[in-house]
Amino acid sequence: MTEFISHSPDDTHRLAADLLERLPPRAVIALYGDLGSGKTCFVQGLAMAMGITEPVTSPTFTLVNEYMGTMPLTHIDLYRLSQPDEALAMGIEELLESDGITAIEWAERAEGLFPAHTLHLRFRTPPDGNSRIITIEEGVS
Ligand SMILES: Nc1ncnc2c1ncn2[C@@H]1O[C@H](COP(=O)(O)OP(=O)(O)O)[C@@H](O)[C@H]1O
Ligand SMILES: [Mg+2]
Repeated sequence: MTEFISHSPDDTHRLAADLLERLPPRAVIALYGDLGSGKTCFVQGLAMAMGITEPVTSPTFTLVNEYMGTMPLTHIDLYRLSQPDEALAMGIEELLESDGITAIEWAERAEGLFPAHTLHLRFRTPPDGNSRIITIEEGVS
């Protein structure tokens, strides 16, 4: 497990850009953390580093947004789902096999559906406000 302390949204963008350099093809990034903990900010950092100029927002109503940069970016937000059955119904298994990078917010709602090469990023907000503790682990769940 790797732990990273971000002191600003720019720091979180830089972490995303650094990670992007090391990602395998068809990478899956599962994002966990409360509202406002920086999950979308991280995906915005990925998008910037991939040369995507469209604004990246949480796809709360559509569940999935797809962007094209130096490679495809699939951005999923499972906030409105209550259980893995609904994730299956939305076709998450196919989405997880998308070309390029797939990033999933509220990944706990698709627990058990992630491939073994998934990177799990957990975001925590310490009481001081602008810092975020971000841990990175690779594995199944
Ligand atoms: N170090 C930091 N990393 C990421 N976001 C931060 C940080 N410090 C403050 N913020 C702010 O926290 C909010 C994170 O929002 P967002 O990325 O939408 O969270 P989430 O998608 O987890 O709900 C943004 O308003 C961002 O400006
Ligand atoms: Mg979000």
